[in-house]
Amino acid sequence: MTTAILPGSHSFYRPDEHPTLQHLGITLTPVFSARTLIGTVVLTFDRPGKVSLDTRKLNITSIIEHGTFTKIPFALGEEDAIFGSSLDFEVPENCRVVIDYDTKEASGLQWLTPEQTSSKRHPFLFSQGEAIHARSYVPCQDTPAVRVTYTAALVVPKELRGLMAADTFVGRLVKDREAYEQWEMSKPIAPYLIAFAVGDLVSKDISDRTKVWAEPVMIEQATIEFEDMPQIMSEAEKLFGQYQWGRFDILVMPRSFPYGGMENPTLTFVTPSLVTGDKSLVGVVAHELAHAWTGNLVTNATWSDFWLNEGWTEWATFRIVEAVWGKEAANLERAIMAGELKGDLQRFHENGTPHYCQLHFNQDGIDPDDVFSRVPYKKGADLLESIETYVGRERFDLYVRSYIATFGFKSITTEKFLAFTSQELPGALEAVKAEEWIFGQNMPDTKVPLESAWLDEVHQYADKGLIPPVEVGTKWHPTQWALYLEYFPRPADEAVLLTLSKLYQLSAHPNTEIRYNWLLLGIQSGMNGLKQPVANFLQSNGRMKYLKPLYKALATNPEFIAFAEEVFEKCKSGYHPVAQKSIQKTFEEAKKIAA
Ligand code: BES
Ligand code: ZN
Repeated sequence: MTTAILPGSHSFYRPDEHPTLQHLGITLTPVFSARTLIGTVVLTFDRPGKVSLDTRKLNITSIIEHGTFTKIPFALGEEDAIFGSSLDFEVPENCRVVIDYDTKEASGLQWLTPEQTSSKRHPFLFSQGEAIHARSYVPCQDTPAVRVTYTAALVVPKELRGLMAADTFVGRLVKDREAYEQWEMSKPIAPYLIAFAVGDLVSKDISDRTKVWAEPVMIEQATIEFEDMPQIMSEAEKLFGQYQWGRFDILVMPRSFPYGGMENPTLTFVTPSLVTGDKSLVGVVAHELAHAWTGNLVTNATWSDFWLNEGWTEWATFRIVEAVWGKEAANLERAIMAGELKGDLQRFHENGTPHYCQLHFNQDGIDPDDVFSRVPYKKGADLLESIETYVGRERFDLYVRSYIATFGFKSITTEKFLAFTSQELPGALEAVKAEEWIFGQNMPDTKVPLESAWLDEVHQYADKGLIPPVEVGTKWHPTQWALYLEYFPRPADEAVLLTLSKLYQLSAHPNTEIRYNWLLLGIQSGMNGLKQPVANFLQSNGRMKYLKPLYKALATNPEFIAFAEEVFEKCKSGYHPVAQKSIQKTFEEAKKIAA
């Protein structure tokens, strides 16, 4: 018999029937030569009884009753392509079991060869649990409706470091050729936040609660890029209350990291492409920091409520950026996200999936990776901004504090959010048409318009396809440049683009966001001379936000499709499993459009 996924969730866990997982004691041993992760996990439940854990492609070798030699019979359910297999067994009277397992094909892990790292000397391994990949490296109740604490030991080659998203580093013990790195997470977190990384890593302190971890060749530059974090944290605390997690460390990942950042508690993972030398992408770290309140403290109860994580966090990011760098800097961040949202809304309407434009929609049977977009982010933040504007900032900020206090260390549904908000801010939801935001497929007319002098200046040149004179262009904020390139009408005239790129050195620009927007503009204008820089970009960046639009632009142009496929074949094995899958999809969609 196969256990079925609980409707409304992405998990085999049934809160009304099953014991609930409370604590994990995890031991992980990566075997780099075999690309195999060997795991032993001691699971503690709140009571005995029958459970169905989430797993994906885990080879379960045994389950025993903790503290005994008694084997517990188990059954692995039939594999579902999205959710994996349920692991069914009976939790014994002492509520504790020990599971031994290994895996070679975890969707939530990326194994890198030394050549794929910055230092090129040692292999690297990292996890990415969100949304439903934690089950591919640890059997658990992989739903944000559950919260767990854990202890963990990483057994790594002694020349490497093993880091864990955990509040306490217990210690490192070296024995023969191995090091045992022990960690403890004492605060309850959702399982998708269980995270680790193993590699040739060094650290440098920024303050008494923040340090940067990176491969040795990156550490100096990265520390400088992120040196403003203490000030950013203190502004965030003024807005949202005390930071609850102890440390806030940053781990600069290898280039293949598929996201801008990931808010693993106490140890945010970031793409190395944030390290540009101009600090203009530090807003991404501010976003991951904001998750410490919205996401990690107050957690979406299901992936259909994802907008409560990301919408709140984007709203919070704009407020932090405003407090640290001013209103205009926040407006530029808003504008970047607004552009991405516009593209997603258009794509969803064109593809016959307009319900993906809703903040909340039923995701039963849907892979969260397949519906990832800026809707939960920017449409979510816009809804919150419209409420903020309606009730006034002072009242809204008090409400935010009370929201965090009420739901801290809890999981929250959209329904609960609505009930709480209508109780705390009577009339506000109706006034801003909250239902239309959440269950509607268009942008409601209650959206607060974006008014920005810095943006106006960009439009003055971009909208007419004019090149800003050097006195103007060299004074622009890097994000103004990114927006200028985004707004530039296309297809653009090749001669104009050549003049522009020569004047401002765009193909070799050190800022990733600018280089990306330049290459996209060039490709969408059919420029042939950009193949080499585009190929370099696609080879040296794993962030899906850049990869997907670039591949799409290439694949939808008959002149470039062969080139795109060639580059993808070459780069594929270096991309994260989730990115590989998603780019593959981009190709298939592009082919449908072309046909
Ligand atoms: N939690 C997300 C990343 C994520 C979301 C991973 C869903 C897997 C599934 C992270 O906080 C995030 O939003 N990153 C953004 C940052 C940006 C909005 C500043 C990104 O990577 O683009
Ligand atoms: Zn986020």
